[in-house]
Amino acid sequence: MEPNLPIKVKRRNFLKSMGVAGAAISSGALLGNIPLDAEERGGRLDPGDAAILRFLAAAEAIEADLWQQYAELGGKQKNEAPYLSGLTTGNTAYTKALTNLDSDMPQYITDNTDDEFSHAAFINEYLKSKGADTVDLTSFRSLPSSKATGAQQINRLTNLMELTVDTSWWTRYRSGSKNPDLGDSFPDAIAVIGTDRHTAIPRNDDEAQLDSSSPNGVTDLTQFIANTAGFHFAFIEQGGTSLYAQLAQRVKSVEVLRILLSIGGTEIAHFQTWHDKAGNCPPLTGVHDPVSGKVVDFPDIGTFAGNDDLQANLIMPEPTIFLSRKFPVVSIIRPTETKKAASNALQALTADGLFRGQSPGFFAYMRDLAEDADEARRY
Ligand SMILES: [Fe+2]
Ligand SMILES: [Fe+2]
Repeated sequence: MEPNLPIKVKRRNFLKSMGVAGAAISSGALLGNIPLDAEERGGRLDPGDAAILRFLAAAEAIEADLWQQYAELGGKQKNEAPYLSGLTTGNTAYTKALTNLDSDMPQYITDNTDDEFSHAAFINEYLKSKGADTVDLTSFRSLPSSKATGAQQINRLTNLMELTVDTSWWTRYRSGSKNPDLGDSFPDAIAVIGTDRHTAIPRNDDEAQLDSSSPNGVTDLTQFIANTAGFHFAFIEQGGTSLYAQLAQRVKSVEVLRILLSIGGTEIAHFQTWHDKAGNCPPLTGVHDPVSGKVVDFPDIGTFAGNDDLQANLIMPEPTIFLSRKFPVVSIIRPTETKKAASNALQALTADGLFRGQSPGFFAYMRDLAEDADEARRY
């Protein structure tokens, strides 16, 4: 057993090693010196509701951590109480590259960051108000910061420097005949960032350079990094969009449902914004990517025009099949299947590369939170 695991993980691992489900054990006898209350307390909340909120609190802390890194380098440099701090100079070249997607990108990045901190703080405070256990990932801050100008030199929860960005959300939301909940799969729109590893933030100042000879005003590598970020923003927020809709189906309390619907709605707002901006990524050819070690192109999204599966301005969710192929197509969030939603979300973030370098204890803790959330039942 690992020495630094939170006690709840130790307890769950202990129970699993004995081949029993945590829910089946209510006697202290089996638990030895591991206190019963090491299992998370729901307080006055239904235990399933509390487990769902705890997983969401962790997901929001992860979002806050990654968005903070984007904000330090590419956001509007405006610290806003009570959540935003650590914004100083920003990174001029990276910010310039991001504004090639939209001149308002720095404002949007900082606002998205502020929103994630507010989500995490609110959910934890709500849990606390009900006497339920909260989530604190501070002890898992172990990953390095970018060395580029603008980044704070602090430990992070997430790694934005070795991402494999799933861009199948682009094709999924344009499909009028498929739905992941009915078993369909979708190709990456931007295959180059969906394979190998790429950084979405400059790792150092060499990777963030102005270039007045380029039409983009920055080096092609700096623009490639910003383009990667542009698609990653939407990947993250489409995940949040589905996650809230998925978990809302299994909460019991109307007030907890209200929290999930209200916060989940802002994830949708974020996704819609980033979906629109990603379509403005400038094309690039022959970029040497120092992370993958390959020479890569970023496709010209303008050439997708006329192809309904890819065309950039088709940012409204295309009506598609829902629940059953017997119903007429309908414009919807997708996926919304609730089974294993939390575990699948964790899996998607892991496959994204967001946790590369994280400790086994972090994964064990997150898996535990996800499994508890996925065990929650409405009835
Ligand atoms: Fe959020
Ligand atoms: Fe979000």
